[in-house]
Amino acid sequence: CWKMLTVAMCMALLGCLQAQELRGHVSVILLGATGDLARKYLWQGLFQLYLDEAGKDYSFSFHGAALTSTKQGQAFVAKVLESLSCPEDVAPDRCAELKGQFQRLSAYRHLATSEDYVALSKDIEAQVQHGGLREAGRIFYFSVPPFAYADIARNINSSCRPGPGAWLRVVLEKPFGHDHLSAQQLATELGGFFREEEMYRVDHYLGKQAVAQILPFRDQNRKALDGLWSRHHVERVEIIMKETVDAEGRTSFYEEYGVIRDVLQNHLTEVLTLVAMELPHNISSSESVLQHKLRAFRALRGLQKGSAVLGQYQAYSEQVRREQQRPDSFRSLTPTFAGVLVHMDNLRWEGVPFILMSGKALDERVGYVRILFRNQAYCVLSDERWVADQSQCLPRQIVFYIGHGELGSPAVLVSRNLFRPSLPSESWKELGARPGLRLFGRPLSDFYAYRPVREQDAYSVLISRIFHGRKDSFVTTEHLLASWGFWTPLLDSLAHEVPRLYPGGAENGHLLDFEFGGAQLCFSQQQPEQLVPGPGPAPMPSGFQVLKAKYRESPLISAWPEELIAKLADDIEATAVRAVRRFGTFHLALSGGSSPVPLFQQLATRHYGFPWAHTHLWLVDERCVPLWDPESNFQHLQTHLLQHIRVPYYNIHPMPVHLHQRLCAEEDQGAQTYASEISALVANSSFDLVLLGMGADGHTASLFPQSPSGLDGEQLVVLTESPSRPFQRMSLSLPLINRARKVAVLVMGRVKREITMLVSRVGHEPKKWPISGVLPSSGQLVWYMDYEAFLG
Ligand code: BG6
Repeated sequence: CWKMLTVAMCMALLGCLQAQELRGHVSVILLGATGDLARKYLWQGLFQLYLDEAGKDYSFSFHGAALTSTKQGQAFVAKVLESLSCPEDVAPDRCAELKGQFQRLSAYRHLATSEDYVALSKDIEAQVQHGGLREAGRIFYFSVPPFAYADIARNINSSCRPGPGAWLRVVLEKPFGHDHLSAQQLATELGGFFREEEMYRVDHYLGKQAVAQILPFRDQNRKALDGLWSRHHVERVEIIMKETVDAEGRTSFYEEYGVIRDVLQNHLTEVLTLVAMELPHNISSSESVLQHKLRAFRALRGLQKGSAVLGQYQAYSEQVRREQQRPDSFRSLTPTFAGVLVHMDNLRWEGVPFILMSGKALDERVGYVRILFRNQAYCVLSDERWVADQSQCLPRQIVFYIGHGELGSPAVLVSRNLFRPSLPSESWKELGARPGLRLFGRPLSDFYAYRPVREQDAYSVLISRIFHGRKDSFVTTEHLLASWGFWTPLLDSLAHEVPRLYPGGAENGHLLDFEFGGAQLCFSQQQPEQLVPGPGPAPMPSGFQVLKAKYRESPLISAWPEELIAKLADDIEATAVRAVRRFGTFHLALSGGSSPVPLFQQLATRHYGFPWAHTHLWLVDERCVPLWDPESNFQHLQTHLLQHIRVPYYNIHPMPVHLHQRLCAEEDQGAQTYASEISALVANSSFDLVLLGMGADGHTASLFPQSPSGLDGEQLVVLTESPSRPFQRMSLSLPLINRARKVAVLVMGRVKREITMLVSRVGHEPKKWPISGVLPSSGQLVWYMDYEAFLG
């Protein structure tokens, strides 16, 4: 039966050959040919490929393959082929002819065992030989669940590779893992069967026409955009995918993934990189596009828990209980809505918020990327007289409208007061007037608006790109891992977060609106009581009092964490202002660890009057790791403080732990170098303020119990050993700390309760509890403890 089919296909093939020389034959094998994706998009995409390429350089054959029995599969494929539609721009007669050819070139085959793969390969070879053709390549499209990947990959690799001189392309569909580790494992597994250049991982958003137009648009409008595409002009970027559907029917997938893995990690991140990446000189070079994109991934600033807001439509848990036979008490924490605030750490985008948002069961279905520009104009003419292309006071925006929504089609929109864009006229045309239609608060007539001449489904676009070997429209292993590397820490930190419940559709009202300040996102409205599914945040007493008392005979300030940090930051600023007034400079030595992080953030975002220009920043201690290592105390300081303030770089004094390409080697004399720097710049080696912490074992700075150095003696800076990783440290010594004019010790959290109680009772025993040796000789010591550390 297969032989007959082969002969029939060969005849069809020959029939389709035109007079000119062919460059070769391409076989497309659609695995999962009877599945949903194949039925809805892939067969149509393959037909489109044939329409575009028939009569050009290549001949084709299309093999639908699946585990479905031959009879059923054939019937399915015949039905799908019959239902293929003709695009508007192909004349009906021509299309009917090509459809007939496509049907004759397509066949179904049952593909399950390794013998089946061997047979498939043989049949392709026979076909090529019969037709007197040369094989150009084979495309295997995996439209199958990921658990089937490994087996299929093994079979293709061992028996279905084309001969020398012909290429192999395997097309893979998401999910590509669940987090960084699983993505890595999957990539390693696939890497055992295929070379990187053979793999085409699909993100269908890269095939959406408006998304695929982002780089060409940036390229063709370089001149106009050069001066606009940066933090100096862009106020914010919104990357949005709203859906009205919910997850019913696919909760088993959704429970495992949730909206961030399903949409943000892939579709929205891909779009983000296309907007944010530096534009290569030659955007038709896949290689340089991919390289530039990777650099954009690397510039993404790490996310924190506060970078996201999560929601879940109310019916979701019930759907999971029903579809997965879970008990009545089951409540899912899977988010079906997420808003995330992303920042880029590079000179082009520093400070520009990129808002990524997606959700199910929302009020409308729409997707877009909106670049909103700052408006620095003042218009003298009254606003009724403003004209769209002349008034600089109207909003200025560029929108890549991905689809659906009010417009109902993909589009590229540019505010008329920006510039008249250039788009390729063979594929984009101006949108006709739509009176009454408003987009982003403006009538459509405010924009230069373009839509595709021929609307194309994302899969058709991507199938064509696979055929043309355009790797830049696909996700490489490096990109995939970079993206998971970016999202996994956030996903981990949100794993137990209770999402805000929302009713779904228009009833959501403003419940999901969110706003941002600095790096934090939060819902604009309070959570309504009846929707709270779990215990809310611990109530804060209102009208708090900062408690003033004594601890180890020095002043103690105690409060709830937020107020404590606010008080400490105020005190530091006051000390700084006084020091600068008296001496012209302020020398501040800061500790590492997690407790000072909120303090750094407070100083960075609330203290605009801080005399940073006259402040010298020193480190109290450092881990023996390179300064760019996330474990480095300096890196903490850099992330949470330095990059947000303006301190002259020559006033920043990291500890020299990394000299001569090695870490904290005695011979390199890093500790002595730091001590000399202090002596040279700090009068009398007396810091104006030293901020310390207290470890649960009573350590302070990097002076640990029983430390052989740093507790007394002459040395100002010492190398020490920590009981926990990284073991090697550099630290200011107690004698140096005690020369300070002021020492503040910040102690936060319940874990410190025991040591706080213990240290309150002990005397001066720095060998056992180094913190007990902190006693400024002529300066002041103040303890800052939150209620949990102080009262438990
Ligand atoms: C898929 C997600 O990748 O994209 C779905 O798994 C989502 O949850 C879909 O509905 C949206 O795609 P489109 O093309 O309809 O915007």
